[in-house]
Amino acid sequence: MTIDLSGKQAIVTGGARGIGAAVVRVLRAAGATVHVFDLPEVDVTRRESLAAAMARVPAPDIVIANAGVGIPEPPDVTAATPENWEKTIAVNLTGVFHTVQLAAEAMKPRRQGSIVITASTNSWDGEATLTAYNASKAGVLGIMRTAANELGRYGIRVNAVCPGLIRTPLTDWYFDHGDVLKPYFQHIALGRGGEPEEVAQAMVFLASDAASYITGTTLTVDGGQLTSKYSTWTDENAVFVKDHWEPKA
Ligand SMILES: NC(=O)c1ccc[n+]([C@@H]2O[C@H](COP(=O)([O-])OP(=O)(O)OC[C@H]3O[C@@H](n4cnc5c(N)ncnc54)[C@H](O)[C@@H]3O)[C@@H](O)[C@H]2O)c1
Repeated sequence: MTIDLSGKQAIVTGGARGIGAAVVRVLRAAGATVHVFDLPEVDVTRRESLAAAMARVPAPDIVIANAGVGIPEPPDVTAATPENWEKTIAVNLTGVFHTVQLAAEAMKPRRQGSIVITASTNSWDGEATLTAYNASKAGVLGIMRTAANELGRYGIRVNAVCPGLIRTPLTDWYFDHGDVLKPYFQHIALGRGGEPEEVAQAMVFLASDAASYITGTTLTVDGGQLTSKYSTWTDENAVFVKDHWEPKA
């Protein structure tokens, strides 16, 4: 299967670094013209900022709603601050609402388009320290499903990816701490974290005509994190080397 996006116009929010930058690279490699919407020029929390940026570029065939923040707090829901709640919801949830709505407005007259949202494994679980983040990532799946339901009649597909722990500037801290990674990756089938390109490939697949009958759903890109539970990697059957588990010979 070859994905050819020649002649397609794409927008990637949060495309300056991390997963977003990888999506930009993969989209461009497939032939798309890509417009990066990121701070400080474009702020997804500000409707007028996003609308003005959209008005400056050709109508998009592909919109990747990816901009996001994740700010850990103490592992006690009573310690979660309203300030972090407001900021996280503003970027991760309201920002996706603005992005999806403006994308749909631009796509509807052309009766075609594909929107892909960066959700998370945290859309499904309750990872401690991340009350606001988890709520925002669960919330974007509600936007995704409703938009898919309402926009199908216009030939617009809406999907989400759910990445696990991916090596980006957002998660540098984890990858610098082998003592934290070891127990974390113990319960990941592939025994390691992901790279941004591994998420980007999945997102570009969903964005492309290769996924022409896929809408309203999620593609989990987590190395098997959500499917793994007990005894996946242990000191008995494997060794942890720097940032990944290796089976014992
Ligand atoms: N890295 C992971 O392990 C992981 C896992 C699951 C989901 N995600 C999600 O993937 C997305 C990208 O994360 P990442 O790891 O690449 O993070 P990152 O911090 O490396 O990149 C996020 C990008 O979003 C931009 N951004 C932040 N606020 C913005 C705003 N208000 N307007 C426009 N742009 C804004 C930042 O400037 C940055 O370029 C996020 O939605 C994140 O929640 C990341």
